[in-house]
Amino acid sequence: MEIDLLRNYPRTNRDTKARGETKTEEVRQIARQFGQAFFDGDRQYGYGGFYYNSRFWQPVIPDFKRHFSLTSDSCVLDVGCAKGFMLHDMREAIPGIDVRGVDISDYAVANAKEEVREWIQQACATHLPFNDNAFDVVISINTVHNLEQAECAIALQEIMRVSKGKAFITVDAYRNEDEKARMLEWNLTAKTIMHVDEWKAFFNDVGYTGDYYWFMP
Ligand SMILES: C[S@@+](CC[C@H](N)C(=O)[O-])C[C@H]1O[C@@H](n2cnc3c(N)ncnc32)[C@H](O)[C@@H]1O
Repeated sequence: MEIDLLRNYPRTNRDTKARGETKTEEVRQIARQFGQAFFDGDRQYGYGGFYYNSRFWQPVIPDFKRHFSLTSDSCVLDVGCAKGFMLHDMREAIPGIDVRGVDISDYAVANAKEEVREWIQQACATHLPFNDNAFDVVISINTVHNLEQAECAIALQEIMRVSKGKAFITVDAYRNEDEKARMLEWNLTAKTIMHVDEWKAFFNDVGYTGDYYWFMP
């Protein structure tokens, strides 16, 4: 189902025009390596400093908990977990919960938040190193769209394979021409950006039956 489980994630005012003007193919290429430059380098390459702050995920976790009925017996995977900040806050809010994270970035994995580092490993969303039905819930925030469309399909099928059925993803999307223009100005790393109706048809085609919502700058 379409549901905004990130409604309590703090909003930021994004100057898409300014960002659009600074982007070159070279900048995109560096950003897409998801290395130090993307997380902790100059702002033009990505986050401009990817630091833990409880104000981001702490308000979101109660919605994950309620929607998926998460308890200390649950097992959750975060695909594209970066430094594990969301998993950290999930463990704080639901003590005893079993969490795992994967990220394509060696840099993010090596610099993951210490309390969750042991549960995070390097892997691509298209080859999740887990058994079928291994997780109660698989979450993937703003990650799958970084793949070409054919690989997105594989990643979505991988999410369904390792999940017992429940999942939540967010992807870059737009609903009209204005939103599309803003999205294209803002986008640095995504390779698959579609209209929300195209994403829904795509989910159906590839067999993704989890929940979803959209990232729109
Ligand atoms: C926009 S960041 C989002 C990070 C985190 N999910 C969050 O919401 O704060 C995208 C993340 O996806 C990771 N990523 C990109 N391509 C990936 C892939 N093919 N497989 C796994 N992770 C990937 C990046 O390294 C980065 O950590």
